[in-house]
Amino acid sequence: ISGSTARFLKDAIRTIPDYPKPGVAFRDITTLLGDAWAFRRAIDELVQPWAGAKIDKVAGIEARGFILGGALAHQLSSGFVPVRKKGKLPHETVRIAYSLEYGLDEMEVHKDAVKPGERVILVDDLIATGGTAEAAVKLLREIGADVLAAVFIIDLPELKGADKIRALGVPVHTLVSFE
Ligand code: PRP
Ligand code: ADE
Repeated sequence: ISGSTARFLKDAIRTIPDYPKPGVAFRDITTLLGDAWAFRRAIDELVQPWAGAKIDKVAGIEARGFILGGALAHQLSSGFVPVRKKGKLPHETVRIAYSLEYGLDEMEVHKDAVKPGERVILVDDLIATGGTAEAAVKLLREIGADVLAAVFIIDLPELKGADKIRALGVPVHTLVSFE
């Protein structure tokens, strides 16, 4: 990603102080999504390393990873796998508890969402502590996925989440950073 594209995307993201808890600077992508050129550019930049690669599935993390994941799957001619908050998926699931920058939760994926060895890219809007993405990688591996990479629009490098995911052996790509 070029410096000017990163600047353009960063300027399309809004910051809400003290949301959802005091002390958290919430990076709100709804402004980026609402800007046709910024949304298109973000998707193009996220898929660029995978142009021509055979990706079986894009796995998106609820909720904001769904918006990006559908667009990425279309661009890559891949299937889409929803990684959901607990209790939302109707068929047999695997479940994991995790913590994130401002809370605790549990997520699930359908047991048959990928076939063993399928090549999967994980996507979410933002990586903070990496707790959410780490849990998603573990779930996807549990059902047999080969997780090729995890991609995000936003990195919060101070929280070292990308390092946590790389330590699992999963390359991480992000477009913009907020210190
Ligand atoms: C946000 C964000 C990531 C996660 C990152 O989701 O979209 O999924 O937090 O935090 P972490 O790196 O510290 O784990 P949130 O749980 O707020 O859910 P939402 O998308 O449903 O709003
Ligand atoms: N998820 C975890 N931390 C976040 C933040 N600061 N802004 C938006 N989403 C987040």
